[in-house]
Amino acid sequence: MTEIIIVKSQEEAGRIYADRTAQLIKDKPACVLGLATGSSPLAAYQALAAKVKEEGIDVSQVRGFALDEYAGLDPNHPQSYRSTINRTVVEPLGLDPAKVRVPNGNLDTIKDAGHEYDQAIEDAGGVDLQILGIGTDGHIGFNEPGSSLASGTRIKTLTEQTRIDNARFFDGDINKVPTHCITQGIGTILKAHQLVLLAFGAGKAEAVAESVEGGISSFCPASALQLHPHATVIVDEAAASRL
Ligand code: GLP
Repeated sequence: MTEIIIVKSQEEAGRIYADRTAQLIKDKPACVLGLATGSSPLAAYQALAAKVKEEGIDVSQVRGFALDEYAGLDPNHPQSYRSTINRTVVEPLGLDPAKVRVPNGNLDTIKDAGHEYDQAIEDAGGVDLQILGIGTDGHIGFNEPGSSLASGTRIKTLTEQTRIDNARFFDGDINKVPTHCITQGIGTILKAHQLVLLAFGAGKAEAVAESVEGGISSFCPASALQLHPHATVIVDEAAASRL
């Protein structure tokens, strides 16, 4: 069952995530956090970083797995998801960078990277709490519409809509946005013990309504959350406006 929480602001959503995650870290110091890029989780990471500092929570054993990475983009590129996760999560929270993995988008090894990544998640005991954003077309991670709901981590082609949406991170130039990515599959994401999806703004309203109230379909990847026993969707009023 999906729990829906409507909040007044991203900060309020961030505090809900921070409270849950801080409790998880206290209960299980070597817990596994599922991490996402995009603007939606930023307030949540900030709230968690503030709480970790205020309460002096020991995060030295916390492990992390990111959802996805662009294919063929240098990991040191400022817009690679490796750089983004370092900048937005690892550094502010003070996590051990060696314990936080991001899928490897290197084109020479990408063919086997997905299977290895899923194995590494399994070896770590699975993701305890996965944070998610949602694309305007309902994608989670980079699982675009049409992705199998049972999929594992693999290479995918980005849709034109996603490349248009993400061009803002590449000088507004769609030609600079990579055409492919490696992403955890929907099946991988569903294995996490707990999911928290964050969506803000009217641009997400349709995708949110389709995900929560529409039928479960690979044409709206986020609708797979309906299959998960412990999923929470936290939205502001604008993103909830079509519910
Ligand atoms: C990218 C990421 C997704 C993210 C989406 C939405 O496509 N791969 O994980 O959910 O962007 O981003 P934003 O939160 O900035 O709207």
